[in-house]
Amino acid sequence: MQNLPDMIAARAALEWQRDMGVDEVMSETPVNRYALPKTLPKMGKSSNIKPVSFAPNILPVEDSGADIATLMAGRAETLDDLRSALAVFEHCALKKGARNLVFADGNPAARIMVIGEAPSRDEDREGRPFVGQAGLLLDKMFAAIGLARDAQSDRDALYITNVMPWRPPQNRDPSPQEMAMMLPFLVRHVALADPDYLVLMGNIACQAVLGRKGVSRLRGNWVTALGKPAMPMFHPAALLQDGLKKRDAWADLLSLQAKLEQ
Ligand code: URA
Repeated sequence: MQNLPDMIAARAALEWQRDMGVDEVMSETPVNRYALPKTLPKMGKSSNIKPVSFAPNILPVEDSGADIATLMAGRAETLDDLRSALAVFEHCALKKGARNLVFADGNPAARIMVIGEAPSRDEDREGRPFVGQAGLLLDKMFAAIGLARDAQSDRDALYITNVMPWRPPQNRDPSPQEMAMMLPFLVRHVALADPDYLVLMGNIACQAVLGRKGVSRLRGNWVTALGKPAMPMFHPAALLQDGLKKRDAWADLLSLQAKLEQ
């Protein structure tokens, strides 16, 4: 940097980014997140994915992000299609600040599908839900009733996703608008995975699928959500903050286990 005006401009740009919530440097090289991907991402082992013929650029301009999400999610016939649709969905501002799409983890054939809130820093880095401290506790909680995301048999397996597939800046709560925009993808996700039971982890999951917050009152009672029997539960992050809640969480896990044994 040569002169004072350049330095002042650089400092102003940096301060603006800080004020917008940027809290870490992700890469040495700039990334144009507005550019559409040239190819759809590969899906690991089961990579016989059919590209889905999305055409967001020919949709009427007045369509809202939620309408476009509904259209794209509705066209997905498999979970791989759905992940591909999310990978090219450009209407949610959170995507621009996220490092990775966090779609799901575990076994899609599991009888239980856990819905969390949104990725934090660890999940954003790894591209998998619940891999930080809260995730470690989540794994322990379900292990206590014999379930694991990496279980060999479908019977003992767990499938995990979030309301939001991208990390909100500074781990803020997603806004109602952001949740409404991404809900069609979650609805389709549940329909395609077709679990027997849902677990709604915390307030954000309850708000997104039940339209109600207040997990302290909701927990412990079976409800119907997205066409499935669902158990609202305390989020593991809440249990890490308040150990007294663990007793309630344990009761809810036992209720879940009883359902599975019915
Ligand atoms: N909290 C969530 O709700 N989801 C994650 O993936 C991580 C933390």
